[in-house]
Amino acid sequence: MKNQSRHQVEQVFPFSTEALREASAVLLVPRLETYFKGRREYIPSRTPVFYNPLMAFNRDLAVLAIRVYQRRIQRSLDVCEPFTGCGVRGIRFAKEVQNVNHIVLNDLNPQAINLTRFNVERNGLSEEITIQQMDAHALMSSHARPKKRFDVIDLDPFGSPSPFLDSAVRAIKKGGLLALTATDMAPLCGVKPSACVRKYLGKPLRTEYCHEVAVRLLLNSLVLAAAKHDLGVTVFFSHSTDHYIRVYTQILHGAQKANDAIGRLGYLVHCFHCLNRKWTIGLSNFPPRTCAVCGGEMAVAGPLWMDSLFDSDFCREMLEEARSVELGDRRRVLRLLNVILTEVGGPPTYYVVDKISKNLGLPGLSKAALIEKLIEHGFHATETHFNPRGIRSDAPIDCVKRFAEALSIHAS
Ligand SMILES: C[S@@+](CC[C@H](N)C(=O)[O-])C[C@H]1O[C@@H](n2cnc3c(N)ncnc32)[C@H](O)[C@@H]1O
Ligand SMILES: [Zn+2]
Repeated sequence: MKNQSRHQVEQVFPFSTEALREASAVLLVPRLETYFKGRREYIPSRTPVFYNPLMAFNRDLAVLAIRVYQRRIQRSLDVCEPFTGCGVRGIRFAKEVQNVNHIVLNDLNPQAINLTRFNVERNGLSEEITIQQMDAHALMSSHARPKKRFDVIDLDPFGSPSPFLDSAVRAIKKGGLLALTATDMAPLCGVKPSACVRKYLGKPLRTEYCHEVAVRLLLNSLVLAAAKHDLGVTVFFSHSTDHYIRVYTQILHGAQKANDAIGRLGYLVHCFHCLNRKWTIGLSNFPPRTCAVCGGEMAVAGPLWMDSLFDSDFCREMLEEARSVELGDRRRVLRLLNVILTEVGGPPTYYVVDKISKNLGLPGLSKAALIEKLIEHGFHATETHFNPRGIRSDAPIDCVKRFAEALSIHAS
């Protein structure tokens, strides 16, 4: 079967291919080994049609989030994936999400469309899936009228989804689910700050918690794009994994919803001398620029989404779904969801133990011991999925440092 399909396909596709399986989807993709740099680094952007096996985890979580969303709204779903590559994501949605009515898969690349068509047919989904070859803006604009809109749009482009947000919010139904991937981590993490301001209308911060700031910046740009259309935003779920960040949001109709979402934007300031941080909520509520702990100058980030990044019920429901559906990497999914469930409800930003150790000149600080100490003293303190050495805590920096020093004296 594998050889036979390869033989058939090589007549159709002007590049070599291989058959593989991702969760429920049987796929033909560009031969992976052709696009390795050295032995280990796979470069999907060099492939004639995009397929990144590393993103199977991203797609696992997308399946879970859409399953939870479908259960909540209790109606059949119209779904759109404007940047489909080889079709894997949409095919998985059609096979793994219950009660999908129709899916539109789209890509500008004609070779991607040919391969998607082949994969859709191979999975027996020609009835459920329509394939289009359009610019993503044109596709979404052609679905901006009331009866044409989608329940779910999953934007998974190259780099930043920000240029596509206006088109996406117009093409989504009232209360629809909009999922976004961003892979342009250099702007979002403050390595290229002016690119970040251009794309996300907010200033980044190159700190140990830059991945969380990145998620908050992406949400800021979505809130501002949606507000122009009198649409509001709430957040179901978000995560930072490998080389990308991802958010799952609900788009709400009405000027008041837009005002509410804008009311959740704010700023963060960070002191690079002593690691103190502070945040404010409100677009004109500017935070102090002098550090209350050491008197140093604080660097500012924002505007940022300053509300919650995770809805605890939604995360819990995703965890329940993860136990019952076929996934690419169930263990990794369960691990991520379990850590996120501990950090739900925690304050913005997190401390990184190695950064505290370095700041104090104390080697070998134990994350577990510091969390225990903080909890013992009545503070909120948990792990964070953003960083394996991170602690999300409402304890002020001077307290955290005092406990770190006490632990170190005790250990020596
Ligand atoms: C990151 S890949 C998509 C990966 C896919 N979502 C997945 O899960 O495997 C981005 C895709 O967007 C397509 N693309 C780039 N610009 C586009 C545009 N303006 N409109 C539609 N498709 C576009 C590219 O051809 C590429 O296949
Ligand atoms: Zn300071």
